[in-house]
Amino acid sequence: GDKYLTFNNGQKMPLIGVGTWQASDEEIETAIDAALEAGYRHIDTAPVYGNEPAIGRVLKRWLDAGKVKREELFIVTKLPPISNRPHEVEPTIKKSLADLQLDYVDLYLIHTPFTLNINEDGSFKVDAEGLLEVDPTTNHAATWVEMEKLVEKGLAKSIGVSNFSKDQVARLLNNCKIRPANNQIEHHVYLQQRDLVDFCKAENVSVTAYSPLGSKGIAAFNAGAGIVRDLPDLMDIPEVKEIAAAHGKSPAQVLLRWIIDTGLCAIPKSTNPARLKQNLDVFDFKLSDEEVAKLLALDKNIRVCDFAFFHGVERHPEFTFKNQYTK
Ligand code: A2P
Repeated sequence: GDKYLTFNNGQKMPLIGVGTWQASDEEIETAIDAALEAGYRHIDTAPVYGNEPAIGRVLKRWLDAGKVKREELFIVTKLPPISNRPHEVEPTIKKSLADLQLDYVDLYLIHTPFTLNINEDGSFKVDAEGLLEVDPTTNHAATWVEMEKLVEKGLAKSIGVSNFSKDQVARLLNNCKIRPANNQIEHHVYLQQRDLVDFCKAENVSVTAYSPLGSKGIAAFNAGAGIVRDLPDLMDIPEVKEIAAAHGKSPAQVLLRWIIDTGLCAIPKSTNPARLKQNLDVFDFKLSDEEVAKLLALDKNIRVCDFAFFHGVERHPEFTFKNQYTK
């Protein structure tokens, strides 16, 4: 079957990319090397993950050795929440490009709809309750004008958003010259966000599913920040295991194939060579309509990746996607 999804501007994105969040510095170079060896050409990163320089070193080795051509790669990075302001767009992508040792990225995303305030020492500003301070002047349309200039300047082939709600995407669509090519959101059998996904698809905004396997690693990350949450194991869901057995595939492969069969891209993270291979090996089978429907019925609206955990403060009800600041 086809291994690419075509954007509203004709650019093609590989349906499976490798996610790089929560990969340690030591791990990442080996992992990206293994990913490229396994055949991945779509790499998803962000300054927030702290691994752009390491990824850049691997890409440079591969490009210099002629093992891959730049045009075969599909590199995604993002405008960080602390830089989500119009005047920061161009300097911020330029820093990413320098770290990645690239002249352009294939897709540049606004990482979050909100903007976080920081102190002079770089630490996050917190409010009176000890919760992350969000910049109330955030204006997506104004930031988007600067995003559009990146395409005109050739610094990004395509531009898009991440973690945007349906209303936020809709508002941007009504206030843009260049339509967003992509919205990257948490998406898996337990958090399907059908309303948002169907809207994006209808508007020709492609959707990339992050945490497609349920991001099991977040449990350890949360624990480090003193947050204990019981996360579901998507690979242990009976329906998923049953479908996997029927196809002679792993539960992870079924979770990924379901995303492809419903018209989305997925960026599973792994640093393990065998699992990296496995996650890309999803193009020799297809789920039946009945199997797709069975998985669609599993939705529980459980978000595994909420933002509160990365700064170690308690989860704040106002800091959820539902209530996040919108303008
Ligand atoms: P590892 O890096 O050791 O492979 P997500 O992409 O949803 O964030 O999930 C990533 C988590 O799932 C990581 O903990 C990763 O661990 C694990 N993982 C990735 N691929 C597989 C797979 N094919 N089978 C089981 N676990 C996987």
